[in-house]
Amino acid sequence: MVRNALSQTILEVKGITKRFGGVEALRGVSFKVNKGEVVGLLGDNGAGKSTLVRCISGIHPPDEGEILIADKPVKLNSPMDARDAGIETVFQDLAIVPEFDVVQNLYLNREIRSSNPLLRWLGWLDTKAMTKRSQKSLNRLNSRIPSLNEKIVNLSGGQRQAVAIARAVSWGAEVVIMDEPTAALGVEQSAQVNELIKLISSQGVAVVLISHNMQHVMDTCDRAVVLYQGRCSADVAIADVDKNDLVSLITGASGLQFAESA
Ligand SMILES: Nc1ncnc2c1ncn2[C@@H]1O[C@H](COP(=O)(O)OP(=O)(O)O)[C@@H](O)[C@H]1O
Ligand SMILES: [Mg+2]
Repeated sequence: MVRNALSQTILEVKGITKRFGGVEALRGVSFKVNKGEVVGLLGDNGAGKSTLVRCISGIHPPDEGEILIADKPVKLNSPMDARDAGIETVFQDLAIVPEFDVVQNLYLNREIRSSNPLLRWLGWLDTKAMTKRSQKSLNRLNSRIPSLNEKIVNLSGGQRQAVAIARAVSWGAEVVIMDEPTAALGVEQSAQVNELIKLISSQGVAVVLISHNMQHVMDTCDRAVVLYQGRCSADVAIADVDKNDLVSLITGASGLQFAESA
């Protein structure tokens, strides 16, 4: 567990309901995340985790409820809106381009255009500025990526995850959501990703982490929010539970008390 959490709420999800036709995927889900806090978002398959992440990342506007950043309600009608609000999401596929190098991936869709008006008009990019800033982002993460000009295909799974996380935090994200960041990684690389999570949280970034690995949740999270059949069924401090408690909460075997739904 990390102890970087500050007492200032950065993200608040308030009474989110999302329906797909007759299916109520989320039913009045509410929780808060503080600055620098790492919150595990747990739940069995179909519990609503991905739907919730899509609501917070502007992909699915919720049917009811609101999302607040630093106590201000934000309307997230697109992923760009979420980014503008300071929310970055690292999806499972990482959305990186294997044939591009590290710098190109860090600046994907946000390239810096040349400052020379003519070159700018011709669509030239300011590679020097992008490289310099990429180096800064990766330094901030104590990254072990060999070279910024390395193509992603030549990097390990852990290094790719580092590039995706660097991209998220280099845009000044206040909240980074990660969907199963270590699912495809071996032990050592998972440990590196956990270190990265601790590092960015120590820099004040709040992290919402979806994981099925209870050991990782115990190692990296301050708190866990559990979804059960679309409801928030538990919100617990990691210091107060063990792995078995988390499993019981996820499977609904613990005689759960549903959190008040809005
Ligand atoms: N685009 C969609 N259309 C219809 N039903 C969906 C859609 N996305 C999710 N669902 C349903 O919503 C519920 C929650 O799914 P999901 O958010 O993917 O859960 P989790 O990520 O926790 O496994 C499931 O019953 C799923 O079938
Ligand atoms: Mg899912």
